[in-house]
Amino acid sequence: MSEKQQRIIIPGGSGFLGRTLTEWYASRGCQVTILSRDPAPVSTLANTNANVNVNVIAWDGKNLGAWADHLDGADAVINLAGRSVNCRYHAANRRLMMDSRIDSTLVLGKAIAACSNPPEVWLNSSTATIYRHRFDAANTERDGLYGAVREAKDAFSLEVAHGWEDAFAKAYMDNDLQRTRGILLRTAIVLGNEPGGGYGTLRNLARVGLGGTMAGGHQFVSWIHERDFCRALDWLISTPSANGIYNIAAPHPLPNKAMMAALRGAVGVPVGLPATRWMLEIGAFFLRTETELIFKSRRVVPERLLEEGFTFEFEKLPEALADLESSSPKAERDHLVVD
Ligand SMILES: NC(=O)c1ccc[n+]([C@@H]2O[C@H](COP(=O)([O-])OP(=O)(O)OC[C@H]3O[C@@H](n4cnc5c(N)ncnc54)[C@H](OP(=O)(O)O)[C@@H]3O)[C@@H](O)[C@H]2O)c1
Repeated sequence: MSEKQQRIIIPGGSGFLGRTLTEWYASRGCQVTILSRDPAPVSTLANTNANVNVNVIAWDGKNLGAWADHLDGADAVINLAGRSVNCRYHAANRRLMMDSRIDSTLVLGKAIAACSNPPEVWLNSSTATIYRHRFDAANTERDGLYGAVREAKDAFSLEVAHGWEDAFAKAYMDNDLQRTRGILLRTAIVLGNEPGGGYGTLRNLARVGLGGTMAGGHQFVSWIHERDFCRALDWLISTPSANGIYNIAAPHPLPNKAMMAALRGAVGVPVGLPATRWMLEIGAFFLRTETELIFKSRRVVPERLLEEGFTFEFEKLPEALADLESSSPKAERDHLVVD
């Protein structure tokens, strides 16, 4: 007898992580439904794998609609919706970053409550940024520290992270979602070849000799290889006892200085110009982004995943980068022009 096809719903699945997950699930014969505010351009994702169903359904990320019917009987909902944090944090962007995450989470709670056969599990994005900027020890789910630190410039990001997680808790409480397991993903930076992730930018900087130590280089960087990101989420979906908060990060975060050295090694450019805090502030202004993404020490480890039996394919950064460099068919490498 053939096994039932697994059905995965990905709100906000048109972005970097959504495309990564869609390809991963599609290539395994699952049916993937992406919820997007603008389905037309995303529909090319439906051709990811001719053998499987990938469909794109319209939603607005805040109101119930016909899209909600697609959640009925699904195996898993993986909510990735939210305005990108890679932007300047002015008032309008702050509101969008906050509202898009809270509204989408709250409306998904209502949609799940309306299902006669609710999804088995709901995974909602959060972020490893929720933990305190620190150097002395790693933040775990059990012992992690919280609270903003001026040097890290992370007060607003923490507001967003807590607002997001509070919305998830509220969705469970208000809708009494007892039949659907709930999982919060405190994800570190995902390193992957799909366009739109941070790795492409880092790689390009290193290739043009700008891959030096940043802002002193003592701040820790937590990361995870794209394949382990997909494997970890799939493990959480298929492990009935998995519930609550999980750090989605490789077991060995490392200081920025070591990370940049590994990156230079991976792209084969041994020298990289270091950048000070003020140089990065100027660069971030012109690139319309924020330095917190670089200044904050994100020392986060996946204690629960390891304790509960998940095994990583890529534990250390050099092997993860070597793999990404050797398997980057659509990497920016081919498009990079150096005058
Ligand atoms: N990438 C990472 O390394 C990383 C690490 C930790 C946490 N995260 C979190 O994981 C989630 C997914 O990350 P990502 O890198 O895939 O982000 P992304 O590429 O920016 O994709 C996010 C998706 O959210 C939807 N969206 C954007 N603005 C929205 C709004 N105002 N209302 C509703 N939906 C909106 C968009 O889909 P449509 O335009 O099709 O609607 C977009 O494709 C984000 O919430 C991010 O903060 C990412």
